[in-house]
Amino acid sequence: MAPVVSSYWKEGTFVNKVVFCTGGSGTICSGQVRALVTLGADACIVGRNTEKVQRVAADITKQRTGSKVIGIGNVDVRDFSKVKAAVETCVEQLGSIDFVIAGAAGNFLAPISDLSLNAFKTVIDIDLIGSWITVKATLPYLLKSAEKYRNDGKSLSNGTGGRIIFVSSTNYRSARVAQAHVCAAKAGVNAISDVLSLEYGPRGMTSNIIAPGPIDETEGIRRLSDPALRDEAIRSVPLQRFGLIKDIADATVFLFGDTGNFINGACLDVDGGAWRVKGGGQWGNRSYPDSIQTPESLSRKALSKL
Ligand code: HXC
Repeated sequence: MAPVVSSYWKEGTFVNKVVFCTGGSGTICSGQVRALVTLGADACIVGRNTEKVQRVAADITKQRTGSKVIGIGNVDVRDFSKVKAAVETCVEQLGSIDFVIAGAAGNFLAPISDLSLNAFKTVIDIDLIGSWITVKATLPYLLKSAEKYRNDGKSLSNGTGGRIIFVSSTNYRSARVAQAHVCAAKAGVNAISDVLSLEYGPRGMTSNIIAPGPIDETEGIRRLSDPALRDEAIRSVPLQRFGLIKDIADATVFLFGDTGNFINGACLDVDGGAWRVKGGGQWGNRSYPDSIQTPESLSRKALSKL
């Protein structure tokens, strides 16, 4: 079986810690939770589809003997009372919430001309308002955990806590055709994280963003890309591959573990450099990456013009 997280990380890092994750039965978020559970955490994942959430929770439990992973279905992140009830169940059954992953998202490709008011609003409601609701419902527990596990980065800590990660996207920064709704929602999600980092940093909490690029074998890739153009899409990524779910999991462990002690208000792009290429990768009639295959001659030409 492919590894879910890098062997670099230490087993037991997240013992006695609990992660609450919206969208936790999805391909990316379940990978993040799987990694944390592997390294010692217990988890509560929530989603709309009860059968799917419970099935994925049961599967994640297998990552580590003795782990507790609960899956709560019929939780739409657009419904504050449902999210709040799930948060309370999580704390009752697992004892705390030390980490939150706000990952629930909705997406489809539709140009502005095909995007009804309700379609636009639906994605804003799921991604942006859903993230806001997740913050409002979990904040008291995150603050409690931040206080308990406050560390100065110098002493050997008894672990970390009081941290939230929003799963966003680089698309809003580069802009992308047929994604006005998602770009708008994710820009708002990033703004929530940025303000949280300012308002609650003084109390020891951190808030950060992971912005995944094209990650293989995910719902995002299935919904947003054309399999016939797969090779071309891979060539447009500077690292010449799609990401792995493990790449996002590693970034999550990095931000939640001691390695993330001084990281607050950041956006970590995990995209192989992909978003920088959009719109900027051509040289003459050569498309990216052929345009950068002869760096020496390009630099000679550039030098001769000096
Ligand atoms: C145009 C569309 C549409 C489409 C739906 N709508 N699909 N419009 N093109 N392809 C419109 C509908 O016609 C309706 O508007 C409105 O959106 C709401 O649709 P519903 O089906 O009633 O909404 P709902 O049942 O709440 O479903 C939400 C959803 C659905 C987002 C539309 O796809 C969903 O539940 N997705 C959840 C899973 C998901 O999308 N995961 C993606 C994760 S990947 P009208 O006007 O007709 O009423 C990801 C990658 C991020 O997020 C990476 C960033 C690039």
